[in-house]
Amino acid sequence: MLKKKNVDMEVFILAFLWLVVVASAANGLVDLEVKALVRAPCHSSVTLHCNISHVEGLEVEEISWIRMNDLETLCMVNRTEEKKCDSHRIKCSYTPQAQLSLTISHLWPTDQGQHVCKLKSNKGVRNMISTVEVQECYGKVETDASSSGIACHFHGVHPLGKVHWFHHGKNVTFNSTTSNSNKPNHKGMYNVSSTLLTDGDSSYYNCSLWIPNTRTYLTSTLVHAPKKVKGNAGQNEAFVSALIVGLGWFLVQARVLIL
Ligand SMILES: *[C@@H]1O[C@H](CO)[C@@H](O)[C@H](O)[C@H]1NC(C)=O
Ligand SMILES: *[C@@H]1O[C@H](CO)[C@@H](O)[C@H](O)[C@H]1NC(C)=O
Ligand SMILES: *[C@@H]1O[C@H](CO)[C@@H](O)[C@H](O)[C@H]1NC(C)=O
Ligand SMILES: *[C@@H]1O[C@H](CO)[C@@H](O)[C@H](O)[C@H]1NC(C)=O
Ligand SMILES: *[C@@H]1O[C@H](CO)[C@@H](O)[C@H](O)[C@H]1NC(C)=O
Ligand SMILES: *[C@@H]1O[C@H](CO)[C@@H](O)[C@H](O)[C@H]1NC(C)=O
Repeated sequence: MLKKKNVDMEVFILAFLWLVVVASAANGLVDLEVKALVRAPCHSSVTLHCNISHVEGLEVEEISWIRMNDLETLCMVNRTEEKKCDSHRIKCSYTPQAQLSLTISHLWPTDQGQHVCKLKSNKGVRNMISTVEVQECYGKVETDASSSGIACHFHGVHPLGKVHWFHHGKNVTFNSTTSNSNKPNHKGMYNVSSTLLTDGDSSYYNCSLWIPNTRTYLTSTLVHAPKKVKGNAGQNEAFVSALIVGLGWFLVQARVLIL
């Protein structure tokens, strides 16, 4: 019984929506114009324009940009209020009866997806979809070196990449181990790190970030391997750090005595 009622309700709503669409299309009164596909690399800034066609006597009752991923209304303007999302990263600007623009600065991979511009007016109802595609990017690159090996770290990578190493033009990736954050952060980005065992050759190694999806090297950096010290470099390091820890302990004790 309840099910039947729901189905009836759905049919009624669909018929109603169909009537609204047909009615506004037949009148050809108001139209929206959006860019169907907006592509940009992460960390860049994009603006989605929702342009309202010029119609004599048009009165906008409500216009909004809605993110379909989570059905969040990013901005809404009606006759009595203007609602904007609280994010400093996402901003809207409204030109009365003409345009609602949504600007996303520092694009994140999680911004990828459909955004709907919805308009209710005295000259009809309209919905238009603009799809945001977030292209590959990286944020920061760091390197480090020790006597046993060298490493490079790529932060804020999208999509997940791999590290390839080159030395004097030779592919030495098989001497490396790569690790990445298994889960992306809340922005949808990964960290990718790789360490390479070097054989004591003090020279530059090329650490390159390979993106399998696009089959390209997104970036690369040169890492200088220090010369391997003959004998026990490892023991020297251990000695120095033991000394530092010992000194720290001494200082703590000294402070306790003084206080
Ligand atoms: C909307 O209008 C702006 C000018 O304000 C223009 O730059 C943009 O290309 C227009 N967008 C579409 C999809 O027509
Ligand atoms: C404008 O939007 C707000 C929030 O959704 C709503 O409470 C208010 O009734 C709307 N006003 C009009 C005139 O539609
Ligand atoms: C380098 O080696 C890695 C791992 O063996 C391989 O996946 C990659 O395709 C090689 N790259 C080039 C340019 O030879
Ligand atoms: C990536 O590295 C940065 C800097 O070390 C760290 O703050 C962040 O939590 C890491 N992100 C992930 C997803 O592990
Ligand atoms: C790199 O790998 C090759 C082949 O597995 C091995 O012979 C060589 O010793 C490795 N070099 C280092 C520094 O581990
Ligand atoms: C490192 O190697 C890659 C792949 O061969 C190349 O595209 C890039 O230009 C090299 N980078 C540097 C800094 O030499």
